[in-house]
Amino acid sequence: MNYTVNKVELLSEFKKCPICGYQDGFHTMLRRENGRRKNFFICPSCHEVFDPGEDSLSHQAPVAGQGISVGEALMRRKSTRAFLKKEVEREKIINILNAARHAPSGTNAQPWHVAVVSGKLKKSMTQEMQQQFEQKGAGEMDYNYYPNDWKEPYRKRRVECGAALYSALNIERRDRAGRLRQWQANYRAFDAPVILFFFIDPIMEKGSFLDYGMFIQSVMLAAVEQGLATCAQAALGQYPELVKKTLGYPQETILICGMALGYEDPGAPVNNYRTTRIEVEKFTTFLE
Ligand SMILES: Cc1cc2nc3c(=O)[nH]c(=O)nc-3n(C[C@H](O)[C@H](O)[C@H](O)COP(=O)(O)O)c2cc1C
Repeated sequence: MNYTVNKVELLSEFKKCPICGYQDGFHTMLRRENGRRKNFFICPSCHEVFDPGEDSLSHQAPVAGQGISVGEALMRRKSTRAFLKKEVEREKIINILNAARHAPSGTNAQPWHVAVVSGKLKKSMTQEMQQQFEQKGAGEMDYNYYPNDWKEPYRKRRVECGAALYSALNIERRDRAGRLRQWQANYRAFDAPVILFFFIDPIMEKGSFLDYGMFIQSVMLAAVEQGLATCAQAALGQYPELVKKTLGYPQETILICGMALGYEDPGAPVNNYRTTRIEVEKFTTFLE
């Protein structure tokens, strides 16, 4: 490769050769550098080679994955409540967050902060959460996730959601101990090797919670792409004081929720049912 590469800055257009003035565009050449594909331009007249650089998006680390479609990821994602005893590679977690950070937010405020907890810390924190649950029952989140007084049609959907879960586990309606056991598994993050905790600055308003939802869904879809499974968990937001103290966040910070992350245990009955959804016609009106 005996040629000099001329670096050029791409302003709005790169069509005219800055060396010989040829005006009708360039030949292109591709080269692999450090595992990445780069484009070069060759002037058809003077044969000088130009590198216009890359835009800021392509400077960011590529997201590895299986390349499934968004639609497929949406269909495949489900709440997973049993995981394999297999560590999650740090690189995959970074890939997930690297994809999810492209979620939109009003004024591009990006109001998210994520704590990734695993290993001994995950174990000790979840032990403390389980203790608190045993001593005092379910704790209070930093904000009201659910209404105190459920109304239809939400009440019915909520009941159906619980019924589907317990039926997959063969837990009968009257089996209170069985239901409690399943609920307690929340505070172990269903034995997932990783918990993501999502925090938001207390000065932010409802709009940022909307942004956060998009971010959290993006995390879950990106996890699917990485071959990983998740369960968003409000339950992991029920002991905010403990979580913030342990992780070194100011007590004023709002803990939005947690998320179990790991490799799905495909043989576990709890992972082998799907929740239903209402049809498009039921929640959409077309008006002209
Ligand atoms: C923000 C959020 C919090 C949730 N909290 C819990 C939880 O604490 N425990 C749990 O078992 N499932 C939790 N879920 C899972 C929902 O029950 C689940 O998304 C819903 O039933 C639909 O099922 P699917 O996720 O399998 O499609 C939560 C979901 C979301 C989005």
